[in-house]
Amino acid sequence: MLYDNHGRKINYLRIAVTDRCNLRCHYCMPEEGITYVDRSDLLTFEELERIVEIFAGLGINKVRITGGEPFLRKGLTDFISRINSIEGVDAIHITTNGTLTKGIVPQLSDMGIKSVNLSLDSIDAQRFYQITRRDSLPLVMDTLEQLIDHGIQTKINMVVMAQHNVEDILPMAELARDRPISVRFLEEMPFNGSDSTTDLGLWDYVKIQEHLESAYPDMHRVADAPSSTSMNYHVDGFAGTLGIIASYTRSFCGSCNRIRLTPTGVLKTCLYDDGVFNIRDLIRSGATDEQLITALQDALSHRAKDGYEAERNRNINLITESMATIGG
Ligand code: GTP
Ligand code: 5AD
Ligand code: SF4
Repeated sequence: MLYDNHGRKINYLRIAVTDRCNLRCHYCMPEEGITYVDRSDLLTFEELERIVEIFAGLGINKVRITGGEPFLRKGLTDFISRINSIEGVDAIHITTNGTLTKGIVPQLSDMGIKSVNLSLDSIDAQRFYQITRRDSLPLVMDTLEQLIDHGIQTKINMVVMAQHNVEDILPMAELARDRPISVRFLEEMPFNGSDSTTDLGLWDYVKIQEHLESAYPDMHRVADAPSSTSMNYHVDGFAGTLGIIASYTRSFCGSCNRIRLTPTGVLKTCLYDDGVFNIRDLIRSGATDEQLITALQDALSHRAKDGYEAERNRNINLITESMATIGG
């Protein structure tokens, strides 16, 4: 079992399989001038499989595939089905923008994928375009309905941005009225890949909660899964639930159970740190499994207590990082 220096059990690995994306969401990437990493710098699927096998032996039982947009990476579904059968891995979860998944939902279902988190920040076509700089709303909505039809547990992630989509909060919440899904409202974080300023902190979790309560006075808190990022609520008559993720306020660090791998193999023990070591480099220099385990244990033995400490310890400016390279 893996524990960090604060006694937190680590059982959740998030793997960003690519830094590429076919959308250009304001809060994640600038419109132009992005330099993608060279393909030869990406961890190969064989390297990732080895890592998951080793980590699963240490108690990692939850794996999330993210990106960038993970389905841009060729061969992803084969990779997922291989790691899905690694002993100790209970389930593979996916976070996607849903634009490339419409045709493959049945395949995901056949492979045993039980949960998909879908990034969707507006159901208004014009605002969707303004936020993502692409016209793909119908594709995402098709993916959403297909996921539900195939019984895949679905959560929608909506990043709340003061200037872009506050008017979408309630229409998005309404998606959970007749659908058995969770609609989650995320505080915006500073990882937009540029140094442009955003309205960080304006719509924090308290304001989002008050806004929802004003529309749904009977909204009540329901139990959260262990180490949940979201505070979850139910509204009478709703088939699904609502959630609020205080990702910028960082109120859930005390139960944080996660580590991350960036597309180029940087291991992050916190979303807000700037990387602890590069596992790809260790692998490519011939490290044994034992050496990889030692490097991971060492990283966990001096893990920041929360996202604030991790941010203070950074060497690289926070806002020049993109969520696509960090891995959601
Ligand atoms: P579940 O496993 O379904 O609970 O999802 P998740 O919340 O772990 O994963 P997802 O990829 O859907 O992430 C949703 C949002 O949660 C991200 O966009 C962030 O806003 C936030 N988030 C996820 N992990 C972290 C984290 O470790 N720290 C912080 N501060 N925010 C996080
Ligand atoms: N702030 C908050 N959430 C973000 N995401 C991407 N960039 C940001 C940001 N700057 C979200 C995506 C996706 C999840 C993994 O991360 O919407 O759902
Ligand atoms: Fe964990 Fe860091 Fe996220 Fe807090 S900010 S929940 S410590 S990864």
